[in-house]
Amino acid sequence: MRILITGADGQLGHELQLVLNKHRLVLGVWPEFDLLKDDAEQYVREADPDVIIHAAAYTNVERAEQEPDMAMAVNAEGTERVARAASKVGARLICLSTDYVFDGQKGTPYEETDKPNPLNAYGRSKLEGERRALASCSNTLIVRTAWLYGRYGNNFVKTIMQRAAEPSELRVVADQRGCPTHAGDLAAVLARVTEETDVRGVAHATGAGDCSWYEFACAIVSLMGASVAVSPITAGESGSAVRRPPYSVLANRVLARAGITMPHWKGALTRFVREVRSAVSVERS
Ligand SMILES: NC(=O)c1ccc[n+]([C@@H]2O[C@H](COP(=O)([O-])OP(=O)(O)OC[C@H]3O[C@@H](n4cnc5c(N)ncnc54)[C@H](OP(=O)(O)O)[C@@H]3O)[C@@H](O)[C@H]2O)c1
Repeated sequence: MRILITGADGQLGHELQLVLNKHRLVLGVWPEFDLLKDDAEQYVREADPDVIIHAAAYTNVERAEQEPDMAMAVNAEGTERVARAASKVGARLICLSTDYVFDGQKGTPYEETDKPNPLNAYGRSKLEGERRALASCSNTLIVRTAWLYGRYGNNFVKTIMQRAAEPSELRVVADQRGCPTHAGDLAAVLARVTEETDVRGVAHATGAGDCSWYEFACAIVSLMGASVAVSPITAGESGSAVRRPPYSVLANRVLARAGITMPHWKGALTRFVREVRSAVSVERS
């Protein structure tokens, strides 16, 4: 298959390159591929892919509050450009989205059919991107994921691993629950979705199980064998001006029906911390 990966140099994009390496890959990387420009559509048409995995996005949740128009331009208008081109070349579009399309009031895991109601600018821009993708390309699958971490780029796990080595106490939000998701595991699932299914519509793909950011941080510190104190705080005490859903746990119902499941977040985290620590000890020796 000929597969275009947009955002190929991002956290997920890097992992996708590894798991899809037996295919002919086109790597859509800024600035040659720029979602803000009209010629993004031409870029996709010239790449002429069978499948597009659209992982490029404006992902800075905090900054999106200051520049909501930019977030909307990249995540909604840019996604629409990709979707229009996908439709023209007859490609399947697999488009990444987020748990932040929900308001977190449900209290039980969100299913693909639940009504979104985003609380922040990033969530609104991603939801608009979902709608435009589905409207512009009939062969679209929206894949909502959450709390991503992996080897590439900055993420919560890497931050806590660095901070665990410092003496000062860690204060971590305990009143938001979600599903930590290993980018490598998500990439592997996206490869199976690409190769084995023709699912369309919306699917959730997050690590199994759920936790609060505080529980997630405690698990990281414990796996590190570190002794730094971790204290729970409320979202209000965190100093973030961004409203986030208090409960954005997703149920991966659609993928389960296709026989595809994701590993539990605790096992994935254990693997990840081990890998990072052994890579560091190899570097040191
Ligand atoms: N990270 C999470 O916790 C999380 C949670 C839920 C959903 N998601 C979704 O999952 C997908 C992958 O996330 P990720 O963590 O891999 O994101 P990431 O590491 O931030 O990668 C996003 C990529 O998009 C590129 N990009 C940004 N603006 C662009 C533009 N105007 N034109 C072309 N490319 C542009 C970035 O390039 P530069 O680096 O050069 O800016 C980067 O390579 C995204 O759709 C995201 O919304 C992520």
